Amino acid sequence: MNIQTTLALIMTTTLGTAGLAVADKDSYALDQWKATPKTYLNKAEHEQYLKECGSCHFAYQPGLLPAASWERIMANLSDHFGDNAELPATETTDIRNYLLNNAAGRVNSSLPKKILRDSKAQQPVMRITETPYFIRKHDEIKPKMVKDNPEVRSFSRCDACHTRAADASYNEHEVKIPGYGRWED
Ligand code: HEC
Ligand code: HEC
Repeated sequence: MNIQTTLALIMTTTLGTAGLAVADKDSYALDQWKATPKTYLNKAEHEQYLKECGSCHFAYQPGLLPAASWERIMANLSDHFGDNAELPATETTDIRNYLLNNAAGRVNSSLPKKILRDSKAQQPVMRITETPYFIRKHDEIKPKMVKDNPEVRSFSRCDACHTRAADASYNEHEVKIPGYGRWED
């Protein structure tokens, strides 16, 4: 039984005709509820994080990695994937707190939950692109579309293909791979 049928049933059985006015108000609430997108992944909104961690690459949403991964990343900024991304101590603390408080496992939204569930068995990885969830979702994409594609080069560049990555929206229907166009499954 779907939610509408369930609600209709509850209304008719418990409210009867006296409940008509209430039923009107409730159907308005139900419309609102249906129009509100469910939380899939929160946007990155921390000003310093966006500025400092979005200067070399896309500012990944904190919910894309478990806390232990962010902890490892933030503890090794002087040797960050071959770059030095070190920051003053207060900024590092600030950004670390933001990332940990919004990491997968901390926030109650669906994408972080899936990432965490898939990652439980293994050591915390330092890359989103190395999480089992990511690998599973991207295993049909050929190297010529990524590594050998001058407009992409790396899976780390989420925003090269996901047209709404900055809005924390990774729906497969919004994917456009440069040089290949829309993704058709
Ligand atoms: C000086 C440039 C620079 C800055 C600043 C920087 N990064 Fe990076 N980051 C890199 C490079 C280079 C890579 C590797 C990208 C690749 O493999 O294509 C990377 C990769 C990453 C990845 C892994 C992406 C994946 O493949 O899943 C994460 C997570 C990350 N950075 C987080 C951060 C955070 C958090 C900060 C801010 C504290 C930050 N970065 C600041 C250069 C930088
Ligand atoms: C080369 C282009 C490309 C890059 C770069 C890329 N993706 Fe994707 N991504 C895709 C495609 C294509 C799909 C759909 C795959 C399918 O359905 O078979 C997808 C699927 C996804 C999904 C699942 C969406 C769903 O509706 O199930 C998520 C989440 C996602 N990507 C996140 C990311 C993140 C985060 C990054 C960066 C760390 C990233 N992607 C980088 C092309 C890319």
